[in-house]
Amino acid sequence: MTKEARLVLAGFGNVGKAFARLLLQKENELREEHGLSFTVTGICTGSHGAAIDPQGLDLAQALDTVERTGSLTSLDRASFLGNTLDFIEICPGNVLIETTPVNPRSGQPALSHIEAGLARGMHAITANKGPVVYGYQHLTRLAESRGKKFLFESAVMDGAPIFSLFRGPLLGAKLLGFSGILNSCTNLLLERMEGGETLTQAIAYGASIGITETDPSNDVDGWDAAIKVAALVTVLMGYPLTPLEVQPVGIRGITPQQITQATAQGKKWKLVCAAGWDESGQFYARVRPETVGPDSPLFAVTGTSSFVQFKLDVLPGLGILESNPSPKTTAFGLLSDVLYALKEK
Ligand SMILES: NC(=O)c1ccc[n+]([C@@H]2O[C@H](COP(=O)([O-])OP(=O)(O)OC[C@H]3O[C@@H](n4cnc5c(N)ncnc54)[C@H](OP(=O)(O)O)[C@@H]3O)[C@@H](O)[C@H]2O)c1
Repeated sequence: MTKEARLVLAGFGNVGKAFARLLLQKENELREEHGLSFTVTGICTGSHGAAIDPQGLDLAQALDTVERTGSLTSLDRASFLGNTLDFIEICPGNVLIETTPVNPRSGQPALSHIEAGLARGMHAITANKGPVVYGYQHLTRLAESRGKKFLFESAVMDGAPIFSLFRGPLLGAKLLGFSGILNSCTNLLLERMEGGETLTQAIAYGASIGITETDPSNDVDGWDAAIKVAALVTVLMGYPLTPLEVQPVGIRGITPQQITQATAQGKKWKLVCAAGWDESGQFYARVRPETVGPDSPLFAVTGTSSFVQFKLDVLPGLGILESNPSPKTTAFGLLSDVLYALKEK
């Protein structure tokens, strides 16, 4: 029997568009191998307009129209006027895909978007870390009360399976701690500095290839890494934690001299994320630059790759490496969540 995903998209930037392209690419495969047909009934953005068509938007046309004209409004068949919450309230669908920008201080407005989608009886799937850190328990309970799912596989390490591992293959294992490289931008910047660039030059290079933002402080000062640590701890260790509590130390203070010194010792600087219980039973969660040698699994994590090593009571060292992430890998995490949410029903 074919299941129908009627998808409501809040956010149509790098990830939202990559998700649309992936749907188009996999349309036949989804129908033939997973019994899933999909319709996108609406797309809403911050400043590029919104469009609702209960019969289903033509996704290729939507991608083309927003690229050419900078607005989706000409595709609207519902005379929609309003904000994103109004959009979520009236757009017909059974799955909300939320890909608006992260707000590391409150999780808003994504948190309210997801709350509204669940309250309307939709599954809510996001790549945004904010609602995970600031709303995990509340949103999960709300989803359960509606018989729906709140899923966020793409929020940490893009499409690499992290959260789904713990609700599937790792059921019964207890997570004692983890360490890794969760911010790919700083990993690239440190690598460029090893090649002789200053941090400013490395940031300029990152911006030229679309890796660093105009204001790179979220990455450089460790906040993106801290919110990912907070998300993993909150969800996988059952210990609600905010990025502020992680008190991240970023890479801004690393000098070219320190890089040279580490290289001379056969080591590398990495922005290391870690959390867990130490030997005296104290909980710790941190983000800070550290030097690592070839004996560490972090040493070989190059470019924009990311890596996490879990310490479980039954598996002392389980590592997951994600090489060369892109919006497409993030889109895959969203698609995998859609399939899981609809398979469960
Ligand atoms: N890029 C990645 O590979 C990646 C990886 C993992 C997770 N994520 C997460 O995925 C999310 C999206 O990332 P992205 O790279 O796609 O960001 P992006 O390119 O900045 O796109 C964000 C989208 O959200 C829209 N938007 C902003 N405010 C909105 C609002 N109030 N209501 C509705 N739409 C709104 C924007 O519209 P306008 O452009 O018109 O303002 C844009 O379409 C973020 O939370 C990010 O942390 C991204």
